Amino acid sequence: MNDRPAPLRTELAGIALQNPVMLAAGTAAYGDELAGVMDLDALGGLVTKAVSLEPRAGAPAPRVAEFPGGMINAVGLANPGVEVVRSTHLPWLASHLQLARVLVNVVGYAVEDFAGVITHLHGVAGLHGFELNVSCPNVRAGGLEFGADPVALAELVRQARDATDLPIFVKLSPTLPDIARTATAALASGATGLTVVNTWPGLLIDVQHRRPALGFGTGGVSGPGLLPVGVLATWKVWKATGAPIIGVGGIASANDALQYIIAGASAVAIGTAALQDPRLPGRIVADLAAWCARQDITSLSALRGSLRWPE
Ligand SMILES: Cc1cc2nc3c(=O)[nH]c(=O)nc-3n(C[C@H](O)[C@H](O)[C@H](O)COP(=O)(O)O)c2cc1C
Repeated sequence: MNDRPAPLRTELAGIALQNPVMLAAGTAAYGDELAGVMDLDALGGLVTKAVSLEPRAGAPAPRVAEFPGGMINAVGLANPGVEVVRSTHLPWLASHLQLARVLVNVVGYAVEDFAGVITHLHGVAGLHGFELNVSCPNVRAGGLEFGADPVALAELVRQARDATDLPIFVKLSPTLPDIARTATAALASGATGLTVVNTWPGLLIDVQHRRPALGFGTGGVSGPGLLPVGVLATWKVWKATGAPIIGVGGIASANDALQYIIAGASAVAIGTAALQDPRLPGRIVADLAAWCARQDITSLSALRGSLRWPE
């Protein structure tokens, strides 16, 4: 770690990161697909694509569509299931990464699925924590998303906490009516930190055919338009909790990443912008280091939550 710029070293809920720049869930697959196009081990870490108990085929094509403010996707949380991730993908990550840290993004359709996935991954090498995607529908409870149901969320996080000693991040939707309150409740049930934010629901229409642009119909909005939404949500969660936060949403430059850190994030994750340019996350690391040098900042993490709110 000694050849990395020291000002960027940081700590995320007890996980030592060589820099605060991570790849967001679902946009880096399980790392192996990116091996030839980006130096994963130069980043702080990556969050895997969603992992469920059973394999999932996902949503019908088209799964993504672009618009001037970013993109919309309905991938349907397609994944090979926890057993393949345990036996194939995580060993690949463990043998190829020395410095970058790995969080597994967990998804479920019933409360107990989350702890089920975590239990299945117990003791696997090269895994540093979990991120719970609670923006998906609780199928047994009529499709309301887990994160919007305080009783289901508390139980889900408690079960996950009982299943592992590793850090657990609960990933929150920007549509929650009171995101700070949900964050506080997740921490009270045993979460170590929060990931802020997931995509925003949206609909793009193919006017010619008068059909949704995506095969599933609706999708999640990501990219530049999500930046101010995620920065505000981060600031609200930081003020209410002071807990470790991974800031996500619309990051495409060092300046965007700095906004999340000043709003209270310990680390940031890049999704859409890295899909468009796989070399961008590495450039953001270099740009953050250059910014610290120019500003004479010896520790970027000292800026965390340093926003000066207007009087
Ligand atoms: C194609 C695609 C797939 C995604 N898959 C997941 C996923 O599996 N689990 C999850 O929690 N979030 C998923 N997300 C959401 C991202 O992790 C991130 O929260 C969101 O895209 C906002 O960041 P961005 O604007 O940098 O893309 C996905 C996003 C995209 C664009």
